[in-house]
Amino acid sequence: MPRPIHAVIHQPALANNLDVVRRCAPQSRVWAVIKANAYGHGIRRAFAGLRAADGFGLLDLNEAVLLRELGWQGPILLLEGFFQPQDVALLEQYRLTTVVHCDEQLRMLEVARPKGPLAIQLKLNTGMNRLGFRPEQYRTAWERARTLSCVGSIVHMTHFSDADSARGIAHQMEVFDATTANLPGEASLSNSAATLWHPQAHRAWVRPGVVLYGASPTGQVADVSSFGLQPAMSLHSELISIQDLQPGDTVGYGSLFKAERPMRIGVVACGYADGYPRHAAGWGDNPAPVLVDGVRTRLVGRVSMDMICVDLTPCPKAKVGSPVTLWGQGLPIDDVAAASGTVGYELMCALSPRVPVTVATLTAPEQPALA
Ligand SMILES: Cc1ncc(COP(=O)(O)O)c(C=O)c1O
Repeated sequence: MPRPIHAVIHQPALANNLDVVRRCAPQSRVWAVIKANAYGHGIRRAFAGLRAADGFGLLDLNEAVLLRELGWQGPILLLEGFFQPQDVALLEQYRLTTVVHCDEQLRMLEVARPKGPLAIQLKLNTGMNRLGFRPEQYRTAWERARTLSCVGSIVHMTHFSDADSARGIAHQMEVFDATTANLPGEASLSNSAATLWHPQAHRAWVRPGVVLYGASPTGQVADVSSFGLQPAMSLHSELISIQDLQPGDTVGYGSLFKAERPMRIGVVACGYADGYPRHAAGWGDNPAPVLVDGVRTRLVGRVSMDMICVDLTPCPKAKVGSPVTLWGQGLPIDDVAAASGTVGYELMCALSPRVPVTVATLTAPEQPALA
């Protein structure tokens, strides 16, 4: 028998979350961001839930090729562009839209001289200071791209550093609008946070990622509770042992949890080798939440490679074999992440390949046709 841990990817939740995005940005087309193996959900599985998107944004050429093999005929955007001169031929072969964020990429296009026309998104660095041409370089880069015979449409693109916080997007928007003023072409600016909270940044395209998977860009569940997002990934396991503790007994490596009263704890088949965060707190004021038999309880002690322990005080009927939810429906991944010093993004992406995954599929009427 395999260990009882398994994950479920909920395609109806993905489709629902895409609808939420459409309601937030009704005038915009949607690049569904599926980089990093669709934030850990799997490209194939996510594609079926998100196929009503207008395009898909990702990083790896092999993920783009897989999308084409799955039958996607619409736009695919390489969010970091291409890396080697030989990649240019693949842009044409697979009809990929590419970000162009630096002189080296322009140079590769100039040298490779593909037939085209290639759709490009020229990236402006408005303050994130990762990728993109600085404002004073941008118009020159745009002229250089425009004169390339292989370049067809040029979309103006930037990425926000603080759309999820009080700092906001005003300064980056100002830089973007001033730099692109009077240049023809559509714009693409908004990640999930800007899609939810900054309609002035929606423009022709939005590029949400994390909200499609049902998590909050801020890491706070309360911030997104009014939008009707649904978790697209659930992680489940079972109790494999029960221990009765006496006052003074400790739990797990480092003895970080000490029982102050007699208590039952359950041992769950799930550890950091499954993708559960090792830094999840099993002590203190904000212990990681866990559902046992559908009842919310808490982690106790340190997370080990293959097991965690949970307090069974609120679920006295729990026994070996009782179902456990680590995150997903009924337990927001953001709450687990907050108790682990991280964000839902990281937990989703870290789901281990050793965890078997099943898919809750869309029923026929929910299944949108391929564009
Ligand atoms: C260029 C770009 N656009 C959009 C996204 C989607 O961001 P989020 O998952 O916060 O919506 C990302 C993710 O980091 C990104 O790098």
